Amino acid sequence: MRRKLVAANWKMHGSSALTATLLGALVAEPPPCEVVVFPPFPYLPQAVQLAFGAVGVGAQDLSAHVQGAYTGEVSAAMLHDVGARWVLVGHSERRQYHHESEVLIAAKLQRALENALTPVLCVGETLDEHERGNTERVIASQLQTPLQVLGSRLAGVVIAYEPIWAIGTGRTASAAQVQAVHAFMRSQLAAHDAKLSRLIRLLYGGSVKAANAPELFAQPDVDGGLVGGASLLAEEFLAICVAA
Ligand code: G3P
Repeated sequence: MRRKLVAANWKMHGSSALTATLLGALVAEPPPCEVVVFPPFPYLPQAVQLAFGAVGVGAQDLSAHVQGAYTGEVSAAMLHDVGARWVLVGHSERRQYHHESEVLIAAKLQRALENALTPVLCVGETLDEHERGNTERVIASQLQTPLQVLGSRLAGVVIAYEPIWAIGTGRTASAAQVQAVHAFMRSQLAAHDAKLSRLIRLLYGGSVKAANAPELFAQPDVDGGLVGGASLLAEEFLAICVAA
């Protein structure tokens, strides 16, 4: 049985005050599911301290390098050092704005696992790919390099399916669409390692709200959600967690 997981990707939003408010609300009323928050880098230590171990804390990205002259980058070891135990890898906004390749993303997955961070690998298709019926081809391609590089070590990874056309748009994929893609991802993983496909948790992200979360999370191959905008509102995010 896979434990439900709801994660909050704050993106480039937040402040010390909002960190205190959101972590305070989550610690005061711990939801039944596993919860992880991904604040911007500067708020990681504060979030770790306020989480009291009741809520997981992770970074939104990490360097593919171990250490060195890489100005502005943050290593997996540094994230672990300040108490983070999770990290997002390959979010569509990093793929789009920072041109992250499949090889770079696989290297980031390796750095995370080497430093006891649980990576959340983000995959998803564009609106054009969706409308042309290429979703499965795109997702298979995005899973290929991580499977080749990590193999069964992928069991230590969570995968988040985030159709790009549903991110921040208010246009959520239907529960049937999400279940179909998650079942496809699990079949791709099963072709490599049956146990891996049974154990790995698959999250959905893309305009998850309290209103649509119950139906989405009720799907057999949906193990929770990766929430953006709604995670910045304590009451809304708690309602989403309760739906898991
Ligand atoms: O990583 C989660 C994010 O991409 C989804 O954003 O605002 O559509 O929930 P949002």
